[in-house]
Amino acid sequence: MTVSGKTVMITGASRGIGESAARIFAEAGANVVLLARSRDSIDRIAAEIGDTALAVPCDVAFYGAVTDAVAAAEDAFGPVDVLINNAGAVEPISHLATSDPDDWGNVIDINLKGVYYGMRAVLPGMIERGGGTILTISSGAAHGPVEAWSHYCASKAGVAMLTRMVDLENAKDGIRAIGLSPGTVATQMQREIKASGINRVSQLDWSDHIPPEWPAKALLWMCGAEAEEFTGQEISLRDEDIRRRVGLIE
Ligand SMILES: NC(=O)c1ccc[n+]([C@@H]2O[C@H](COP(=O)([O-])OP(=O)(O)OC[C@H]3O[C@@H](n4cnc5c(N)ncnc54)[C@H](OP(=O)(O)O)[C@@H]3O)[C@@H](O)[C@H]2O)c1
Repeated sequence: MTVSGKTVMITGASRGIGESAARIFAEAGANVVLLARSRDSIDRIAAEIGDTALAVPCDVAFYGAVTDAVAAAEDAFGPVDVLINNAGAVEPISHLATSDPDDWGNVIDINLKGVYYGMRAVLPGMIERGGGTILTISSGAAHGPVEAWSHYCASKAGVAMLTRMVDLENAKDGIRAIGLSPGTVATQMQREIKASGINRVSQLDWSDHIPPEWPAKALLWMCGAEAEEFTGQEISLRDEDIRRRVGLIE
């Protein structure tokens, strides 16, 4: 599939990986719908992209806000062809035993329920139309515990399972669900992790992180036929072969 002329909805598009994805998909000819809570940022980025971008303020922790955003996308550009579940949070970083239950739950509301809400909101239309692509940003933290990230690890493990669920139930309807584990990326999230000073990830040098354009380019590649073999799975940008296939390294 080429994304030219398609409607691509990206959550968490106010900075980092989501902002890069919005710019790279727009360059590839897609109509992009940018969702995030920071209205000023998505307005600015959408204005910089031009007429093929729409900013929709949206907190993905609320199902009604996500369905409203899907309706706004459809009004502007037609039904959502590609959903990119990218919005995510890692703060507050804390040990499970001393974590604040409300704060812990908020991260689940964004990282796990927000992804479910996106999938739930677009799937019926995609099924009716006979196809669609749902890409979700996962993490290495989905597959192994990381100190003081119990909320984050649990949410990303859940998200990995949601990709498998969509594939199990809806591959027959033409729905392509694939996860992306980007490795560590030079974004605001890594600044927050560094500031916490807890665990091995916070000790990494800034130069250890890949730029946000890398996962953004991987997401574009995941919309193409070459990624077909990965439906229902996660691909990892730590994998040199994947980096090569995406065109990030020689
Ligand atoms: N950076 C890494 O090393 C790394 C590694 C593995 C996975 N990831 C994943 O990559 C994704 C993007 O993160 P990033 O690194 O680009 O971090 P980032 O720069 O902190 O961006 C996070 C984005 O999520 C949005 N967001 C947070 N809560 C939201 C909510 N309730 N509703 C809507 N949007 C919300 C933020 O926008 P607003 O605050 O404006 O709402 C922002 O646009 C996340 O899922 C993260 O878990 C990152």
